[in-house]
Amino acid sequence: MIEVQDLRKTYGDLVAVDGVSFRAPAGAIYGLLGPNGAGKSTTIGCLSGLVAPSAGRVSVCGHDVLSDGPAAKRALGVVPQELALYEDVSASDNLAYWGAAYGLRGAELKARVLEVLELVELADRAKEPVKGFSGGMKRRLNFGCGVVHRPAVLLLDEPTVGVDPQSRRKLLDLVRRFADEGACVLYTTHYMEEAEELCDRLAIVDHGKLLAEGTLAELRGELGERDLLRLSGRFEPEAARAALASFDGCEVVSAEPDALMLSMAGATRQLASLFGALDGAGAQVVETTLTQPNLESLFIKLTGRELRE
Ligand SMILES: Nc1ncnc2c1ncn2[C@@H]1O[C@H](COP(=O)(O)OP(=O)(O)OP(=O)(O)O)[C@@H](O)[C@H]1O
Ligand SMILES: [Mg+2]
Repeated sequence: MIEVQDLRKTYGDLVAVDGVSFRAPAGAIYGLLGPNGAGKSTTIGCLSGLVAPSAGRVSVCGHDVLSDGPAAKRALGVVPQELALYEDVSASDNLAYWGAAYGLRGAELKARVLEVLELVELADRAKEPVKGFSGGMKRRLNFGCGVVHRPAVLLLDEPTVGVDPQSRRKLLDLVRRFADEGACVLYTTHYMEEAEELCDRLAIVDHGKLLAEGTLAELRGELGERDLLRLSGRFEPEAARAALASFDGCEVVSAEPDALMLSMAGATRQLASLFGALDGAGAQVVETTLTQPNLESLFIKLTGRELRE
């Protein structure tokens, strides 16, 4: 349903998207997980036709976004990261505007607006101007505007930022329902937990590049049974690396004067001897955190950085 091939977008010297390829099928949620500036919104922009790619191909439902733009757009619903709402008009008028823009008319449009107001739980505020809404309410309405015409392909750009946990839960359930009903959903987020819970397949992106791609199980498989061990304190990075070199299956992800990150199999069994070796290398360990394989530890292993910095 979505096909992105060797997509590249540059702004002057800045490479926002650097050769990204993926396919997202119908009836599933495909995630793009990455930190600020990874190129998620730029990729979404290329799919929705708002951003002109510098190179590569993007298509939606078999329609090339560049050469067959109107057909591609008709299949799309977009929930942008920046709110796309008219502040001075009511929630229902916002929905009616977007519904009409996508070709809904008359009784069908009216019925669909009421339906979506219920879906995003704004039926009781339907007639109020949006400028009086809370941030979370605007987010929910923004979501509603993207789905009012029941698109076959839904692009969601960080739709839950600033939404309270309860509404977020409901939004995630709605997204799942759209996919179960057959839509192809592309979902960007920098929340690992969301990606882990929601996405059937996902790609980890950073600095415009796709670093890993697959189902959650496949991505976890890339880590093997390796735990991530984070140590804070005081270290001689080179001495620490040398001391750890003799440990079976221990990989130093990063070594700084105040922090070490290690990826290793069976870390708990080796902790005592590990501390012994670090002690011998003049290290002072203040705090230790052990994380079982998850998306966050995969991201750290791939980039040497935490997802949230
Ligand atoms: N119109 C533009 N002009 C110049 N640079 C841009 C423009 N749009 C995006 N960029 C740059 O491209 C890179 C990718 O930005 P993008 O918005 O796609 O990231 P993102 O993954 O969506 O990040 P965030 O999680 O913060 O929304 C960033 O370095 C950004 O500064
Ligand atoms: Mg973005």
